Amino acid sequence: MSQIKSKERVTDHGEVFTNEREVNAMLDLVKQETERIDSRFLEPACGDGNFLAEILRRKLEVVKKRYGKNCLDYERYAFVAVSSIYGIDLLPDNVEDCRNRLFNIVMEARCNGCKGEGDNRFADAIAYVLTRNILCGDALTLKQEDGEPIIFSEWSFVMGNKVKRRDFRLDEMLEGNVDVGEAMPLLGASGSLTTEWVYDEETQAYLPLPIKEYPLTDFYEVGK
Ligand SMILES: C[S@@+](CC[C@H](N)C(=O)[O-])C[C@H]1O[C@@H](n2cnc3c(N)ncnc32)[C@H](O)[C@@H]1O
Repeated sequence: MSQIKSKERVTDHGEVFTNEREVNAMLDLVKQETERIDSRFLEPACGDGNFLAEILRRKLEVVKKRYGKNCLDYERYAFVAVSSIYGIDLLPDNVEDCRNRLFNIVMEARCNGCKGEGDNRFADAIAYVLTRNILCGDALTLKQEDGEPIIFSEWSFVMGNKVKRRDFRLDEMLEGNVDVGEAMPLLGASGSLTTEWVYDEETQAYLPLPIKEYPLTDFYEVGK
């Protein structure tokens, strides 16, 4: 596959895609994380998703090995694998390509990953999550094209098939990116008081409060 689409795009946006060998070599540096179904990855200039696609493939291999005998389990964990992967790109066509690519990987893996029917709502649920997790925006300003802040959704299974969605502003999450045990930042760069922080047991980190929380929903019904 070509690593560039056009000279103009290289000049204007530094768009040179990473080839498969380098992608794999880099991901092997964090191999254990790429094989953990629920590990969260954010690629801030994802292009058409070279890194995210490989991470997804690796996670889905694990889903197949562990849950391939039961389609509903398979789909539940495939949802976990996809919903923990995030990307941002400046160019709308790359965002679209990335979403489609990840969607096709899941659907192909679903066919080969477990025999049997599964649920016919699965494809829509995955497509919806990808519209929320792969976003068009500027990873430097942390804003979308319309100037609004980039907002990501956290998806977590709470009980059975029920998933909790909480939306966070990316700029606020990055502001709180401190090691556990370090003092929490109470002042922003400007010296003013910033967001309110809460300690999150799951991620073992301080997180800002979500800007929106959604009622528990069956994962097949997200976006409905
Ligand atoms: C060098 S390519 C890398 C794409 C992909 N990560 C890969 O390794 O194949 C850079 C990508 O970053 C995007 N990009 C450039 N500036 C950006 C910015 N400020 N915010 C988000 N994406 C940006 C471009 O549109 C392009 O898709």
